[in-house]
Amino acid sequence: MNLKIKKSNVSKKIFLGILVIFLLIQFYRPEKNISTEPSANEIELHYNVPENVQTILQTSCYDCHSNNTKYPWYNNVQPIAFWLNSHVIDGKKHLNFDEFNAYTLDRKRKKLKEIGETLEENEMPLPSYTIIHGDAKLSDTDKKMLIDWTNSLSDGLK
Ligand code: HEC
Repeated sequence: MNLKIKKSNVSKKIFLGILVIFLLIQFYRPEKNISTEPSANEIELHYNVPENVQTILQTSCYDCHSNNTKYPWYNNVQPIAFWLNSHVIDGKKHLNFDEFNAYTLDRKRKKLKEIGETLEENEMPLPSYTIIHGDAKLSDTDKKMLIDWTNSLSDGLK
């Protein structure tokens, strides 16, 4: 009997502890990936990006691979914001369409090839992203269009 009461006190304390931590981390806000200046190195300014390809990139890739993320409301809740922020930072480090023209020729070729590979293997857009962003899911036609575009862009790179 006595033991039971003690146990429930302990779980109450643990619950309160977690609640306090949850409330405290709400005050921490990672800096948002929203650039007010247009980038001089964005891919569209330097290379042929047909409108339908651009639409797909914007809908399915730019939240993590450009200097502007469209944040969902739940980005106001921690620790979700930490998690989204880590995808944006990591995604931009690997590929940033707004900085594409600043890459070396080799890196440009490599990135275009990687885009094709990640699409073929259904690695991108991240599955955790398309669960919520249904419109970011790519059909086979979308994928083929993007892959054809990366190939022709890569062939024309000098
Ligand atoms: C929700 C965020 C998110 C979205 C949306 C997203 N990516 Fe990524 N992407 C990442 C992250 C994080 C990485 C780095 C870690 C990894 O490779 O999984 C990455 C890595 C990559 C890489 C580099 C892979 C390598 O081998 O280094 C390519 C290429 C890429 N993404 C292409 C795309 C394309 C194309 C789209 C849209 C069709 C897209 N991504 C959409 C988050 C995202």
